[in-house]
This record gives sequence, C-alpha cells and structure tokens, in this order.
Amino acid sequence: ETSRLIVDDDFEVAPVNDRLFGSFVEHLGRCVYDGIYEPGHPEADEDGFRKDVIELVRELGATTIRYPGGNFVSGYRWEDGVGPKEDRPRRLDLAWHSTETNQFGLHEMAKWLDKVGGNELMEAVNLGTRGLEEALDLLEYANIPGGTKLSEERRANGADQPFGITMWCLGNEMDGPWQTGHKNAEDYGTLAASVAAGMRMIDSSVELVVCGSSSHSMDTFGKWEETVLEKTYENVNFVSCHAYYHPEFQADGTRDMKSFMASGVDMDGFIKDVAAAIDATKARLKSKHDVFISFDEWNVWYIDEEPSRNPEGIGNWPVAPRLLEDVYSAADAVVFGDLMITLLKNADRVHAASLAQLVNVIAPIMTEPGGPAWRQTTFYPFALTAKYAKGGTVLEPKLATGTYETAKYGEVPTVNSVAVRGADGSVTVFVTNRSLGKTNDFEIHLPEGGGTAIDAQTLHEDDLFAKNTLDDQNRVTLHANDTAVLDPETGTVRVTLPPVSWTAVH
Ligand code: AHR
Repeated sequence: ETSRLIVDDDFEVAPVNDRLFGSFVEHLGRCVYDGIYEPGHPEADEDGFRKDVIELVRELGATTIRYPGGNFVSGYRWEDGVGPKEDRPRRLDLAWHSTETNQFGLHEMAKWLDKVGGNELMEAVNLGTRGLEEALDLLEYANIPGGTKLSEERRANGADQPFGITMWCLGNEMDGPWQTGHKNAEDYGTLAASVAAGMRMIDSSVELVVCGSSSHSMDTFGKWEETVLEKTYENVNFVSCHAYYHPEFQADGTRDMKSFMASGVDMDGFIKDVAAAIDATKARLKSKHDVFISFDEWNVWYIDEEPSRNPEGIGNWPVAPRLLEDVYSAADAVVFGDLMITLLKNADRVHAASLAQLVNVIAPIMTEPGGPAWRQTTFYPFALTAKYAKGGTVLEPKLATGTYETAKYGEVPTVNSVAVRGADGSVTVFVTNRSLGKTNDFEIHLPEGGGTAIDAQTLHEDDLFAKNTLDDQNRVTLHANDTAVLDPETGTVRVTLPPVSWTAVH
C-alpha cells in the first residue's frame, strides 16, 4: 500500500504547547513510593529521590506533572503530607485500598520537580470528600508569599518562597460512579463554579481545569460537558478529557487488534466532540473567553485485567502494592505513538495533556525496589516526539491514505501522520502504519526548498507482543529506518513503514 503527506509550510494548525508533554504522578501503587521516592535505594539522593529515575524522566522529556491524583485525590487531605515526616498520619486510601504513609507530599513533589529541571506542577484539589474551604486553604498555603496562618506554615515547613502553582484541577473524574464523592453534573458544576470563583479571589492568575468526562463512552458524555461548562465557563481555562485504550476480547477469544490500532480515531472524535461542546457553550453565553482541552489522562491501559486489581479485605491495606503495572508491547507503543500524533493534530484545541502515569503505574518508566530502572516500549515514541515537537508548530496534515474496516470504529485511515516545523526550521513527520499485515510506502512532499539530510527512526517488531522486562530491558527500542531516502531535487522523502509501526522522520 501507499500513502502521501504534503508538508505545506503556509498552513499551520497551532504552536505546540510544551504542556502537551505533561505526565502524571498519583499516590497509587508504586508510582511515588518505590518509584520516584525510595530512601535507602543505592541511587537515592539525600531526599530519598531516585537519581536513576530522575535521569530517565529528563530523557523522556516530560514537562508539567499532574499530582497527587487521580482517584486518590478525592479522599486526600493535603495537610497530612506537609510538616515533619514523623508527625504525618497514616491514612486509608479508599481509591486504591492501600495505606497512605504521607512520607511524600506537596513539598517533596515541588522539590523533586526542581531537581528534574524546574518542571511545572499541576495540582489537583479534592472535590470528592472536600470542597471550597479546603481548596482555598491549599491555594493560600501554596501561593501566598507570607503573613497569613497557612503561608507562614509553609514557610515554617521549609518553603520560604511560595510554590507559585498556576494549573489546578478542580477534582478528578467527578462523573465516574467509582469516584469517592461522585456527583451528578448539576452538583459538580455548581461546586466547581464556586471553587473556581473562590480560587480566583485569592490568585487571579491561576489556570483552572474543570472535570470533563472520564471517557468518550461514559453514558453522561456530552450532557456532562454541556451542564458543567454552562456553570463554570467564564472562570475556567480548560475542560479535561481522559481516555485509555486496550485491545478488547472478541467473541472468538482473540483480541480486536484492528480496532485497537485505530484508537487514535476515537481520541480524535472525543477531542472534536468536546471542542464542539466548548464552542456551543461559548456561543450560548455570548462569551469572549476561550476554554481549551486538558487531555490530562491518556494511555494504553489493560484496565480490569489482573495487574490492575485492588487489594481487598477489612484488614488488608498494603503500602505501595504493585497495581496497574502494565508491561507494554511493541504494538502498544505504536498505538501510543498514534495517540501522540492525534494530540499534536489537535494542538489548536488541546493545550495540555498528561500521560498517565509516569513511573511503575501504567508507565513509560519501571523500577524494582533496590534494583534497576528501565524504559518500557512506550518510552520511545514519547521521548522522540517531545524532543522534536517541543517549541515547534503543527502544520496542517494533508494526508492521502487507504483505509481499513474495524469492528469498533468502522472504516478508518490506515496511516496516521502529522508534520511539525521545529523552532530551528527543521521538519519532523510522525507517522504510524496501523495495518496488521501490509507494509506501506510512505511519501513526504517537503515544502519548497526541500531538505538536506534526514534521519528516520522506527519502532516495529515482527513479534507484536515483544516487551521490555526486568530480565530483558532493551528488547524493544527504536531502530534507524534505512529505507528512508531524500530526493533533494524534488523535495521528496520515501520511507517504508512496516505493518504495526511508528516512525519519526526528522
Ligand atoms: O490513572 C489511573 C486512574 O485512572 C486515575 O486514578 C483515575 O483518574 C482514572 O480512572
């Protein structure tokens, strides 16, 4: 099969917001404890932060980090996690049926981000078991320079300067019946509106994310956005989207890989639908204000399959159990790369995104207690996309490709692709071949002037299910795609895309 992308420098979608390369650290399983924080590990620094993990986070290129949840935040008391560590209480974490020791909290998170490289903190407030007052307290504690009870407490706890947190999530997945303190759209919208207004009275520069739907397929999807945006529109900057994909089982017991490969089609439709809800609200309210999408949870997740199960039993609340430790395959990484292409294509509406999550929990980085840290297959498309797309501008994707039929999404494009012009004038084309069996001869028409040199890196394995594990940490990596040739005369690049592959042509 063949496909063709025309890279036209004159037609831009939008600048790439650095926040598109955000990630997510939740108090869940071993993301924090035995993940980024493991005092006593040979690689731990004086704060107990694993330096090997910090190195990998830098290499990944993750920017804004969403914290501390996730479902966890809907039962969290932020003040448990500040002050002398020996005085911090152990609490039940209802979301993950675990014990939260509170040895890691807001100060540790801020310090860890400084050490990674000054990454932005995106803080979530608890609108499950808590409300307006506690959200205002947390904002005062975090952002007021001094002279009040809570800001002075922060200073006494070792942070003389305010944390200066700009991005705040108004709760998490409040549409989900699984959420502690789950609410209907009316009640959540009313609460979020009052919290947003109150937070702005403290700090008018905050950027607020109101909860959208937990997935495109929620029964309340659409109506939820309409109701919540109607109530909060003028006081929020983002509405969230969350989406996780995995190959579902079919009647014959095999997985539906064809639909799985086309997960980006669903993500794209989700973004377009939410953008329509934003536009409709803006029109109804005759507003001049813009609201963007924060796609603040996205990934491949084999949800409800064995590694994801919560502990059970009245006496069984383990500390940092192994939860959601999905081990990603080469095929998973291709779908993951396709989702990143989809986020980029929608860079005009999606101004922030968080890969859920960062370490051990549905993560690109894995660790063993006392042992090594390594890269999952999904690490590679994230790192290369971040490297080449940050600071760039997305160009309108003019793509001619064949299609194939899926059970879930009907007829879908076989190839998905986008071009980004870098700040240095270079062009990178990201492309996936979703076909399970057919190679694709992909042609790129560069803008006037062509190019001088190319580098093409492909993620593909003949064994679609090859994975990186503790015992075989580098089984799946990127490989130089030697089929890529540039004809400088015509400004054309030709590259062969193997079936089920992700490629970056720089
Ligand atoms: O990322 C894992 C969980 O997925 C988060 O805690 C929750 O927000 C979502 O359902």
